[in-house]
Amino acid sequence: MTEEAVKHPLVSFPQDRTCPYHPPAGYDPLRAARPLTRVRLYDGRAVWLVTGIAAARDLLGDPRLSADQDNEAFPSPTEGFKNRVRGRRLSLLGMDDPEHKTLRRTVIPTFTAKRVSALRPKIQEIVDALIDDIIAQGPPAELVSAFALPVSSQVMCLMLGVPYADHEFFEEQSRRLIAGPTVEDTQRGGEQLDAYLGALIERKQREPGDALLDELIHQPLAEGAIRPDELMALAALLVVAGHETTTNMISLGAFTLLEHPDRLAELRADPELMPAAVEELLRFCAVAEGGMRVATQDIEYAGQTIRANDGVVMSTSLINRDTAAYSAPDELDWHRPDRHHLAFGFGMHQCLGQNLARAEIEIALRTLFDRLPGLKLAAPVSEIPFKPGTTLQGMLQLPVRW
Ligand code: HEM
Repeated sequence: MTEEAVKHPLVSFPQDRTCPYHPPAGYDPLRAARPLTRVRLYDGRAVWLVTGIAAARDLLGDPRLSADQDNEAFPSPTEGFKNRVRGRRLSLLGMDDPEHKTLRRTVIPTFTAKRVSALRPKIQEIVDALIDDIIAQGPPAELVSAFALPVSSQVMCLMLGVPYADHEFFEEQSRRLIAGPTVEDTQRGGEQLDAYLGALIERKQREPGDALLDELIHQPLAEGAIRPDELMALAALLVVAGHETTTNMISLGAFTLLEHPDRLAELRADPELMPAAVEELLRFCAVAEGGMRVATQDIEYAGQTIRANDGVVMSTSLINRDTAAYSAPDELDWHRPDRHHLAFGFGMHQCLGQNLARAEIEIALRTLFDRLPGLKLAAPVSEIPFKPGTTLQGMLQLPVRW
């Protein structure tokens, strides 16, 4: 630890959650420190933590904060994260304007509401078939592997045009890329994913389909608006972002509802409430915690000076529970008047897949509780494993019976 760290102990970030859907108890002292405070990362570095929703919007919209993870001053939540991302083309997520704007403008026309509506009946079919299997096999079931992951993975394949037959391969490479046990392992996972997607793109150039990747190949790529290496990096980002976060939200969303039986009963009695419930679950669970940026210039904000090269971290779990925006923020309540939240980020990097994610979560949770009315946890809560403190939150397993 540095001398500064010993003299001025700061709350450390990130920490493990003590309950899968609440911010870690260790962040309690930060709740009063809105909208901006200092925390210490694993490597002893002090960074700014944004904890207020208005500040998060202002700062995520400020071009003086950069998402360039190749910048030496870019903060890392873990050692593995730093070594993993350096030198890897992260596509949109790691770009600043004007490069980011150009690529986002090129791909945004393929993320249409029409594509998501066209997918809804197919999402329903996927969800129904998985629940048929769960019912056929009888209780108990493990809902991450039997439901949340295959729903997200199959929907992502459909949307992008990736063969689901290869799912074990790319799920494994995505897992290694996000949280492999060693730096070599995560880099190897990234290389394998790139090689797989490179070959898929070549095949699609010869045998066109009508999914999102095909559209990107036959318009921007063919017209020279996007380079082949840019398309491959984007495809890798979509494969990882497209199934990992949604798996987390379906599994953690189901767990959260099971832990709130009165709310669940209300939802079962009136399924029309489901879209509002999904929005509230997104706020409450905040599965994508700790988005990072680095300041490229000094920024005066809320009476503080964020210096050039300072790290700035968004605590989505605390931002989504800002008392200035929500009354009783620790309660799950889909009747609250303000439904805005930062679960999908804000500003130029705001999630491109959010409407697809909303449709998936809504259909998955509605159908799950509708078709398995007696669903309950099959183990004491204290024995159900959830993801440790890095930045993507969710359940590792969700054992249920009915
Ligand atoms: C519940 C599910 C999801 C959550 C919570 C989520 C969350 C987020 C967040 C917080 C960001 C912004 C990160 C930042 O500012 O640093 C983001 C960006 C992004 N997400 Fe999602 N996401 C989800 C699902 C998806 C899906 C299904 C897709 C693709 C089909 C997707 C594709 C992307 C892409 C491409 C970006 C980068 C956008 C850019 O940098 O311009 N996400 N997501």
